[in-house]
Amino acid sequence: MLQEYFQDSLDASQAKKEAQKLTFYPMMFQASRVMRSLGILQEVYENRRKGITPEEIANKLKLPYYGVNLLLETGLTIGLVHLKEENIYTLSNMGYFLLIDKATIVNLNFSHDVCYKAMYHLEESIKKELPCGLKEIGMGEATTIYPGLSKLKEPIKSSWFDFDHYYSDKAFPVAMKIIFEDSPKYVVDIGGNTGRWSIECCKFDENVNMLIVDLPGQLEKAMKNIGEMNFQDRISGIARDVLSDNFNLPGDVDVIWMSQFLDCFSEDQILLILSNIRNTINENTSVYILELFWDRQKDIEAAYCLQGTSLYFTAVANGNSKMYHSRDLYELIKRAGMEVITDVDNVGEFHTLLKCKKTN
Ligand SMILES: C[S@@+](CC[C@H](N)C(=O)[O-])C[C@H]1O[C@@H](n2cnc3c(N)ncnc32)[C@H](O)[C@@H]1O
Repeated sequence: MLQEYFQDSLDASQAKKEAQKLTFYPMMFQASRVMRSLGILQEVYENRRKGITPEEIANKLKLPYYGVNLLLETGLTIGLVHLKEENIYTLSNMGYFLLIDKATIVNLNFSHDVCYKAMYHLEESIKKELPCGLKEIGMGEATTIYPGLSKLKEPIKSSWFDFDHYYSDKAFPVAMKIIFEDSPKYVVDIGGNTGRWSIECCKFDENVNMLIVDLPGQLEKAMKNIGEMNFQDRISGIARDVLSDNFNLPGDVDVIWMSQFLDCFSEDQILLILSNIRNTINENTSVYILELFWDRQKDIEAAYCLQGTSLYFTAVANGNSKMYHSRDLYELIKRAGMEVITDVDNVGEFHTLLKCKKTN
């Protein structure tokens, strides 16, 4: 666990300043995003050596001087730009990363397109344990985001999938090497989403067959992707809600794989899913759980992003799940009648891979 969590790291004066800054975070977030989307940051970047004035940027981008000047002044206090001399701007290190860093851009688009308006309903979501913000992304009638994932409107859909894939893509190659050490022949990918992991497994090992379990809309999309990659003979699918009564899996499975999946459920639901899995597997089956635990992160910034993601689960995804502390999952695994055999941190950069077996 990070040491920062065990201390109050700010003195009174710093604390007051931080509290005051916090009150304007939503506006500063939008100002930063707009500086990027209007091309202002790009202009400052391209002219970073000699610097550039607000008038020059306004003329070049054909934008009103008022707005460009305002955003640059605001960018000074956010730290995105700084002055070379009076009224001549250049890019700061922070501005550079907001402009080009993939993780930053993926997080920014997710926060804006998927979460921003929904967060207005956070208080109601917390009180009701319901994703009251779902209506802000056009899913007012739904109780979770998942059945409608494949039908989300743009740019919400791309921002959601880019966010999901960015993190799992980093972890998949490392995790794959670990899982295939035992040469599994039959792997079940629960919450297989777009089929990405199953397709990569088939490319990695020509002897493996895969089964994807996901909700109908998402499974249809996955099977389409699988067909396009010509893996339909080795990857099959079951359209199933893992919370429904008819949970069962084939008995001869070597590996059950769940990546960024259990965080989509409440603790009670995770216990149900893990208990159902436990009741269908045998002693030889390995259950792999790839998760992002906030207590296992190397720095406070990574943990901060995970806490932000938890707020998405509250107000948008389902109202009752989150990015868990590893202790919570350990407890649920034990209660479900399984034990953790190996525990590997820093898979990719942020993930933990747990290998579990059924206890007798
Ligand atoms: C966050 S995505 C994870 C995708 C993928 N495993 C990865 O690592 O990128 C969660 C997946 O679980 C599926 N899912 C959510 N609730 C489900 C349920 N009740 N039954 C079956 N699948 C579900 C979603 O459709 C989605 O594909």
